[in-house]
Amino acid sequence: MDLIIRNVNLPDGRIGIDIGIKDKKIMEIESPLNFKANEEIDASGFLVCPPFVDAHFHMDATLSIGKPRLNKSGTLLEGINLWGELKPHLTFKEIKNRALSYCDMAVARGLLAIRSHVDICDRRLLAVDALLEVKKEVSSYLDLQLVAFPQDGYYRSPDTINLLNTALDRGVEVIGGIPHFERTMEDGKKSVGALCRIAAERGLLVDMHCDESDDPLSRHIETLTAETTRHGLHGRVTGSHLTSMHSMDNYYVSKLLPLMSEARMNVVANPLINITIQGRHDTYPKRRGMTRVPEMIKIGLNVAFGHDCVMDPWYSLGSADMLEAASMGLHVAQMTGIEEMKSCFQAITEFPAKIMGLEGYGLEKGCNADMVILQAADPIEALRLKPNRLFVIRHGKIIARSQPVQSELTLPGRPKLINFLK
Ligand code: FE2
Repeated sequence: MDLIIRNVNLPDGRIGIDIGIKDKKIMEIESPLNFKANEEIDASGFLVCPPFVDAHFHMDATLSIGKPRLNKSGTLLEGINLWGELKPHLTFKEIKNRALSYCDMAVARGLLAIRSHVDICDRRLLAVDALLEVKKEVSSYLDLQLVAFPQDGYYRSPDTINLLNTALDRGVEVIGGIPHFERTMEDGKKSVGALCRIAAERGLLVDMHCDESDDPLSRHIETLTAETTRHGLHGRVTGSHLTSMHSMDNYYVSKLLPLMSEARMNVVANPLINITIQGRHDTYPKRRGMTRVPEMIKIGLNVAFGHDCVMDPWYSLGSADMLEAASMGLHVAQMTGIEEMKSCFQAITEFPAKIMGLEGYGLEKGCNADMVILQAADPIEALRLKPNRLFVIRHGKIIARSQPVQSELTLPGRPKLINFLK
């Protein structure tokens, strides 16, 4: 073996397991493993999980905070204005450097697969070219999947129909959309149909910003579901945000959810962003601005939590920590039942891996030797502590490591060291 990780806890509850790695793959996963290895890690009592996956991010905007100025109000509207101010000044090199810095941050957090939307409403397609180059450069340590995202509207913004096709021709692999931002409901509906048709013709996946609104009558998810079924795109389409579903009439949702299930619709909720951006026109009570995650999981839809933004015009916070996104989602959706908390952990690992179609993902014999050792004992503790990533492993090699954290007290008569795992 090249590497053996001893005595680990697995997300499914198994404990005291050894993981043997050879030729970039998991060769054995059982206990005890009577092999010798070039390198061994004693992970006694620590959780090992497959890498974190973010199925919804905006890498062209990340880490641009303060350029050209800060979002003072913290609102979506000021964020959109800010991005509009910044866009003409973006350069290829600057976008690329920010994206690469974010990938470094992600790796340190054990986040090794990201689906990023890239704004195509720019005649230069600078961000598309920059992120395609980043995708190539990081491919040995991070899977980056790009979505052609018509941020200013597929019909609303000039030339976007051509720009989308050009972006796809250059290698962007997923089709995006933003139907609720088109000029009319009718245009929104039409855009969903047109974009799904292109996906069917080109054999591509779809991931739309859909109904990111508090308007209960924003029902583009209904059209997206119908077009998915019409074009036979079952399981290949993702509805991102879907926040209007939070405000929809329950009777209508009782019709919609089974249709989404029939289309095998994937869903990404972005709790960090939508808890701050939605409900801004409310007085009290204020709506939470997250789609109906527990109800969707209950009927078997594949639902992930995304990070969406980190330190950009829309969101000044974040640190590439998917456990932070999942923890926020858990709280916002009141998913405090034991099984619900476990599914929140799956919503930042295996569920988004399925959305991205990652091959060889998981902790089974024959899977890629990609994993993270956390300073926590199980998924629920990981959600509670957002602990250190002690080791991040890709293709059987350690690519990031951190020292275990402990605090030393100087109080008389109190224990010296605090262990948050107890
Ligand atoms: Fe987004």
